[in-house]
Amino acid sequence: MNDFPIVNVGICGLGTVGQGVWKHISRSRAKLESRLGARLVLKRASVRDLTKKRSVRVAKSRLGDDPMAVAKDPELQIVCELIGGTTLAKDITLAALRMGKTVVSANKALVCEHGPEIFSAARQHGGHYFFEASVAGGIPIIKALREGLVANRFGRIYGILNGTCNYILTRMEREGLSYPIILKEAKALGYAEGNEALDVEGWDTAHKASILTYLAHGTWVPVKSMLVEGITELTQADIQYARENDYAIKLLAVIQRDLKTDALAVSVAPTLLSRAKVLANVNKVYNGVSVTGDVVGETLYIGLGAGQDATASAVISDIVDAIALLLRGNAPLPEPIEQNCPLNKPELIEGSYYFRLDVKDEPGVLAKIASVTSKSKVSIASVQQRPSPRKGAASLILTTHLSNEKAIRATVTNLSRLDAVLTAPLLLRIASFDD
Ligand code: NAP
Ligand code: HSE
Repeated sequence: MNDFPIVNVGICGLGTVGQGVWKHISRSRAKLESRLGARLVLKRASVRDLTKKRSVRVAKSRLGDDPMAVAKDPELQIVCELIGGTTLAKDITLAALRMGKTVVSANKALVCEHGPEIFSAARQHGGHYFFEASVAGGIPIIKALREGLVANRFGRIYGILNGTCNYILTRMEREGLSYPIILKEAKALGYAEGNEALDVEGWDTAHKASILTYLAHGTWVPVKSMLVEGITELTQADIQYARENDYAIKLLAVIQRDLKTDALAVSVAPTLLSRAKVLANVNKVYNGVSVTGDVVGETLYIGLGAGQDATASAVISDIVDAIALLLRGNAPLPEPIEQNCPLNKPELIEGSYYFRLDVKDEPGVLAKIASVTSKSKVSIASVQQRPSPRKGAASLILTTHLSNEKAIRATVTNLSRLDAVLTAPLLLRIASFDD
């Protein structure tokens, strides 16, 4: 072992993920080193607050508060960016790549917003950029798409890509709690982003959907071109409807490609998913991804989608790949070539829908609602009336036959304008994925 070549690694950020990486490398160093034929040295790390207590022991001489110094340290071959965000993280990533280093990251926001610039810096300076932990936590979904499924074109990829939201939805369903209470716990468990709105408003899932879209189809889809909705408006009334009708509510990313026209549609929205689907039964902080390829058919991936250990597992797998690349030139397959798939306007996405709205409990209300839906050519499939907590009001739940986002948006706007409608309608998609 003593004559093994040394690979020096630096870690920017020793928070939830960084401490997990430090802990697990320290624990399984001998095993990793003997498999790699290299000495893996955690040379230095940086944090923002040097006085904060850490769950891992890092010698004072190795810990600093200047991530740029880590990124530019000429003795490091690999730099892990585990800070998050898109400003400082971008600067240190580009600084390390411009020195020809390899960067390992878990930062989906950064990959989504600056992927082309980062990949180009890596190519230009002979370094590499690894980001397995950026999507679906511990599930090796990036490896699966890039390598295992390389023979395929992908008609549909859909999945639960945010552990925090799945944890919240599962506990809302099982314990009848409201989302803000559970969110606090998700934060304490290290699942949520520093800015938790990224999780609950759907943006984190959209970042991940954008990365999967690029890997599967070679097209960068910015989140602002997607339909993105979060889980903040869901209540126990929706959970109850789902339970009674054999659905689960999941925040789903859906990436559809029409393999005849190549048109792409990417969306993120809370969705009623039939309990018969495997992913409807993926609960707590687990993520699940269904990838349908034209050669392989449907494949499913399930695993912990957030949290220290699962994410560290993905980061360490990248560090090991990076070392294999440095020592033996085992380069990952190149990124897909830009295919310029045209992006369908979100308004054209088709599906069936669920609305919940509080209305005045008086004669003629249903007729007014029906006149709005018929104006937008939205055909109602079912109507249920339930008691509302508001005095003199009723809660209505409508489901529709096949429609599209444009018609549904018009319906929501016009329903909100009715005097008899007391709350903005809550909208869910109803998944209709064939087996
Ligand atoms: P975190 O717990 O907030 O840790 C961030 C680390 O970066 C902390 O050590 C913090 O220092 C340091 N840092 C933040 N701002 C800094 C600054 N201005 N200068 C120097 N250091 C700074 O975050 P995390 O949960 O580990 O997430 C890290 C990355 O992994 C993010 O991109 C996140 O999206 C991604 N990710 C997280 C998970 C998860 O389950 N948590 C899963 C997958 C991917 P202090 O400790 O001193 O504050
Ligand atoms: N906040 C993210 C989630 C972390 O809950 O899924 C993992 O990317």
